[in-house]
Amino acid sequence: RIVPVILSGGSGTRLWPMSRPETPKQLLALTAEETMLQLTARRTLDEARFDPPIIVANDAHADTVETQLAKVGVVPQALILEPVGRNTAPAIALAAIAADPASPLLVMPSDHVITDHASFRRAIEAALPLAEDGWLVTFGISPDKPETGYGYIETGEALAPGVHRVARFVEKPDRATAEAMLAAGGHAWNGGIFLFRADIFLDALSAHAPAMLASVQAAMRDAERDGGRIHPHAGHFAESPSDSIDYAVMEKAERVAVVPVDMGWSDLGSWDALHALSRCDASDNACDGNAILIDSHNCLVRSDGPRIALVGVDDLIVVASGNDILILPRGRSQDVRKVTDHLKEEQ
Ligand code: GDD
Ligand code: MG
Repeated sequence: RIVPVILSGGSGTRLWPMSRPETPKQLLALTAEETMLQLTARRTLDEARFDPPIIVANDAHADTVETQLAKVGVVPQALILEPVGRNTAPAIALAAIAADPASPLLVMPSDHVITDHASFRRAIEAALPLAEDGWLVTFGISPDKPETGYGYIETGEALAPGVHRVARFVEKPDRATAEAMLAAGGHAWNGGIFLFRADIFLDALSAHAPAMLASVQAAMRDAERDGGRIHPHAGHFAESPSDSIDYAVMEKAERVAVVPVDMGWSDLGSWDALHALSRCDASDNACDGNAILIDSHNCLVRSDGPRIALVGVDDLIVVASGNDILILPRGRSQDVRKVTDHLKEEQ
């Protein structure tokens, strides 16, 4: 059976003020009644195919993560609690060391939208024989704009039905490179979801990031365990270089494959992305129950406190949470990062 590995360590700064260090994006209910983590965990509720998941999260969120998972009936086989964030490669290494070496790991971000679950499941089935045979498999999304926040995969020869060799993996290209790849065709976005055997991933780390592997191994050797909770040794883990799986492994490894899949995927990276997914009325607004919209079009309104009323405005994003209010025109939501950078400097 496949072991799902759910990464729940990101901070989602572009969804401020709802997403904050204490309540990052994956722990929020943004698209439905359930949180992004709960929706992700639900996808693994199939005992015929999946073992209980391994969750890798920040230590500060342990209780919230456990409570949220219990509400959807998911009891993780391990909850690995990072003392500090070291990006995705060390986080996945923790899980790979905790898992049985031959198990196929399905590594999933905890904060993405997937609306077509059946297509996702078919893609996993197509990927599994290759993963079992020692390939690092990624899932490729058809690109529709020259997004620079994603990894790009140039698809090569077919290896099996629905599976291709990766000719080249380019993590977060600059704008000109992204435009060239889009124009050339034959490229997919990396969805940030991976399927590979635990031992094959650790072999790749030992080849391409040996210092990272050594630190994470030491952290797991000296880990404290209570019940299903695993606390890697803080000193050893902090010594690991901080790097993503994309830069540390996928760009460098040899046997990398991609399964193109159209599954209604969005990484929900911004308020504009959320607006594109949710509508509450015929005027292209996206809002929650707190909002009053009069003669307003194409707006996103979210609040966890005060009621928000808009009259006669178009293309606005208004978000209220706690003591903070964010207002910006649609199309500028990538710049919310500048607000959180500013707040960090103030501290
Ligand atoms: N446990 C843990 N620890 N999880 C982490 C950490 C960490 O230190 N850092 C990030 N994560 C989690 C995030 O919560 C998210 O679910 C996932 O890992 C991916 O991290 P991001 O930081 O969101 O990566 P990205 O968006 O910059 O890029 C990745 O995803 C893109 C698709 O959304 C790359 O894989 C790109 O190639 C890809 O296109
Ligand atoms: Mg992301």
